[in-house]
Amino acid sequence: MTQFKHFYDAGQGEPQPGGGLKSAYFIYGGEYMSFQMSRDSEMIYRGSTFGKEILDPDCPPIWHSTACRVADMDDYDFANNGGKYYYNRTAAPNRDMLGDAVSFMESGEASIITSSGMAAISTTLLTNLKTGDHILSSKSIYGETIELMDGLLKNMGIVTDYADFTDLDDVRAHITPETKILYTEIISNPLIRVTDIDAISAIAKEIGALTVVDNTFSTPFVIRPLEHGADIVIHSLTKFFGGHSDITGGSITASKAIIDRMNPNFLLLGGCMDPNTAWLALRSIRTMKLRVERQMENAAKLADALSKDGRVRYVNYPTMSCHPQHELAERLLTKGCGPMLSFRVEDSREKVNAFIRALSMVQYLGTLGGYRTSLAHPATAFRNEFTPEQLKAMGLEEGLIRISVGIEEPEDIIGDIVNALSVFDA
Ligand SMILES: Cc1ncc(COP(=O)(O)O)c(C=O)c1O
Repeated sequence: MTQFKHFYDAGQGEPQPGGGLKSAYFIYGGEYMSFQMSRDSEMIYRGSTFGKEILDPDCPPIWHSTACRVADMDDYDFANNGGKYYYNRTAAPNRDMLGDAVSFMESGEASIITSSGMAAISTTLLTNLKTGDHILSSKSIYGETIELMDGLLKNMGIVTDYADFTDLDDVRAHITPETKILYTEIISNPLIRVTDIDAISAIAKEIGALTVVDNTFSTPFVIRPLEHGADIVIHSLTKFFGGHSDITGGSITASKAIIDRMNPNFLLLGGCMDPNTAWLALRSIRTMKLRVERQMENAAKLADALSKDGRVRYVNYPTMSCHPQHELAERLLTKGCGPMLSFRVEDSREKVNAFIRALSMVQYLGTLGGYRTSLAHPATAFRNEFTPEQLKAMGLEEGLIRISVGIEEPEDIIGDIVNALSVFDA
């Protein structure tokens, strides 16, 4: 029977970006002692110790452990003050590594990595607002963000008004003395409208409000909102960061001062990402530029082809000269207009359904941002939450179809969609 005890390095490692210590998660070996464990107990301890340290693996490990051992109360105090990792929800190596990468990509100082995009949005709003505060939001944003604002937040006495963020006079007209957040997406879902983020951030600064941007549709390869005066940038990492339709996650990136202020309440709200997902997200980021650039090229080609098809009423994509913010997009979105587009066909549920069924390659999915082209029907996605009149007012017509363009050969994407459009011939 083996005699051993675990020993721990109580805080002599190098400080890491996430606040932990290098040695705190590598040094954890075995040392003999006089106490003899029974065979049955030993069975549940064996396999926990490394024979030697593993330093600098090319691919980072996944630290699944819910907790890291603490040596004594002094060590616990040290951990509790950010000295080392000790409890997963409080801080975890894989989340910190992902946060470091996302902060860099978005030109921020620090990030909070959340369990979903909605966790990032709700955490941002709940930790920056109090009863009586006012949000001024673009009216062209993700439907569930509107549901959050008009439901839970309203019940807590945080009121949201919606303005046309492509019209700066309309934005100014909706500001109140209580406005604390200007909330927008830069490329909006699903109408692909473009927000002049420099102008919106300037208005927010004038009134002492924060500019919060959901950059999910744009990605940092199109624009980095913090470089344009925004204070907080949010992502649903579920989409282009994940890129393979196999993770759910979110991020909040800002200055260190803002993140430090939000973090204690984020820990209490509890919406942290698990280590396995953080590892997968970081792996996906390594090829994100290649994917997104190819997706943008394909999107521009698809938009062009659809705009020439008589069965398509209009295409929402900022490269089109008829797009309402085409000039702004040319000035602002110099690296490309993103992988998302929408187009409108005849407002017939039957024919749109037949179109969806006629597609061979493109799939109908309740997500976006994967490497394969997928389609969504925005009106159907929000039929349970909004009345038909509200849907129309939001621009979600029956004939509106949204496409998340993938990395396939462009002629295959165009061919499949144009072929299926034949259902509108009759
Ligand atoms: C623009 C945008 N923001 C936020 C979200 C929410 O992200 P998640 O589903 O990861 O919570 C979505 C989801 O589709 C989205 O499209």
